[in-house]
Amino acid sequence: MHKDVGEILFNPADIQTRIDELGADITAAYKDKNPILIAVLKGSFMFMADLTRALDFPCQIEFLGVSSYGNQTSSTGAVKITRDLGCDIEGRHVIVVEDILDSGLTLNYLTGYLQGHKPASIEICTLLDKPERRKADVFPKYKGFTIPDAFVVGYGLDFAERYRNLPYIGILKPEVYS
Ligand code: IMP
Repeated sequence: MHKDVGEILFNPADIQTRIDELGADITAAYKDKNPILIAVLKGSFMFMADLTRALDFPCQIEFLGVSSYGNQTSSTGAVKITRDLGCDIEGRHVIVVEDILDSGLTLNYLTGYLQGHKPASIEICTLLDKPERRKADVFPKYKGFTIPDAFVVGYGLDFAERYRNLPYIGILKPEVYS
């Protein structure tokens, strides 16, 4: 275990098992809908790669870049799009793939932004959910794990651009960021 991680919440096998279940649920609901999966960069890159491999139907993938917390551990709510969509989503079924839902401010902004492009539908698939910290009403249709109010890293999630490559999800020791 990395020295800055205090506790491992989900090891690679836990993550894969849950993603296989999510993939089966999404396949059942979308196999005839030709959806576009839109991953929110950068944190969801690893989840997107594993989730799409758990889907048993043809699907299109896209990426949206948004500004992150920088070196802080909570969202300011000021979301900036750093990489826009590369395709037209009008009339298409969209699944937004996110690493973690915290205050909800990012996804609240992003779903509003995507609605402006007139998709047929939008649903959210988040790997992690921290409901205790919610500030905006966001209701993910697909959710991997509910976690307590702690700052987590690994499996794509970072603190100040570090720890994304850890294969597990763990709680970052508070002394690392305080
Ligand atoms: P929200 O706008 O507060 O819901 O924040 C969503 C974004 O904040 C996520 O996509 C992550 O990039 C980041 N984030 C929130 N909580 C954590 C965490 O515990 N670890 C790492 N990144 C986090």
